[in-house]
Amino acid sequence: MVTIQVCVGSACHLKGSYNVIDELSELAADYGVEDSVRIRAVFCLGHCTTAVSVKFAEEEEVFSVSPKTVKEFFEEKVLPKVKQEV
Ligand code: FES
Repeated sequence: MVTIQVCVGSACHLKGSYNVIDELSELAADYGVEDSVRIRAVFCLGHCTTAVSVKFAEEEEVFSVSPKTVKEFFEEKVLPKVKQEV
C-alpha cells in the first residue's frame, strides 16, 4: 500500500489541495490501482511556499504538486512505487 499525504493547511488549501486529492483518487481509479493507493489529508508540512505539498508517508521528500501537474506526479512518482510494491 502506497500512502500519499496531501497537505490541506491554509497555503496548500488555497492552491487547490482538494483538487489534487480528487485528481489523485481519479487517477488511481483510471489506472486500476485504487486498492493499492491510500490518500490522506495532512496539516502543514512546512513547505507552504511551494504549495500544494505532497509526500509519501515514511519518506522525507516533499513534492510540490498543483492540479495541473498532478497527473505527471502520479505517473512519474506514484505508479512506479505502486508497481514496486506489488
Ligand atoms: S500549508 Fe501546506 S505546507 Fe504549509
